[in-house]
Amino acid sequence: MNALRLLLIECSPRGDKATSSEFGRHLLSAITAHIGREVRITERNLGSEPLPPISAAYAESLLLPAEEGRARFPGQLGVSDLLIAELEAADLLVIATPVHNFTVPATLKAWIDYVVRYDVTFKYTPEGKVGLLHDRPTLIAVTSGGAMFSDPPAQPDFFRPYLRAVLGVIGLHDVTFAQSPGLTFSSEPFAEVERQACAWTESHLDQLLRAVGGKLLSQ
Ligand SMILES: Cc1cc2nc3c(=O)[nH]c(=O)nc-3n(C[C@H](O)[C@H](O)[C@H](O)COP(=O)(O)O)c2cc1C
Repeated sequence: MNALRLLLIECSPRGDKATSSEFGRHLLSAITAHIGREVRITERNLGSEPLPPISAAYAESLLLPAEEGRARFPGQLGVSDLLIAELEAADLLVIATPVHNFTVPATLKAWIDYVVRYDVTFKYTPEGKVGLLHDRPTLIAVTSGGAMFSDPPAQPDFFRPYLRAVLGVIGLHDVTFAQSPGLTFSSEPFAEVERQACAWTESHLDQLLRAVGGKLLSQ
């Protein structure tokens, strides 16, 4: 049986103290314990190794068909090529991230700007932008300090709608959110994260595993 290839993207600047990375690790352990096959993890930590700002060459290349962009800017699109290759190779994408100012942190936004690439990961059609990547289950493990994601909302949520829209542009529609909010109010955030990860695992893990299994069988 083929190994499951998992891409883990961590986004917090807080290293060992990052609640989002801890939340992601708990969910990953649950996935690896129950998936029933070997899991090969590729890790990209955008917090400890932030991506460079996009260059003029990269921005210009987005206006050109892919081959023309490569010919005009040889050797200058490498960061984007590498990140897209990592994404394409993954059967399952896990993004562990905090909320920053009601949306994704700048580290994750930079990754998005490199992987949403005209004529490589999406194309224009009369109906709008259409993704060129094959869909794969994507799990967003998100932590927040305040009461994000409550109903009725206590804070505006530009996080989930934004990620759904922008990942959808490149073809990733099977997006699941696991949320661990309100950590500012906890005296032991890591224990609270573990508790919320267990609760999520009990109620949602089966569904995620079915989606992953179905995707692998259909390949
Ligand atoms: C720059 C910045 C902006 C933040 N904005 C929000 C916010 O809009 N809503 C919220 O609930 N928490 C916000 N927080 C709190 C973080 O989401 C929270 O502390 C989270 O647990 C941090 O995750 P980490 O430990 O993985 O970095 C913000 C934190 C930072 C550093």
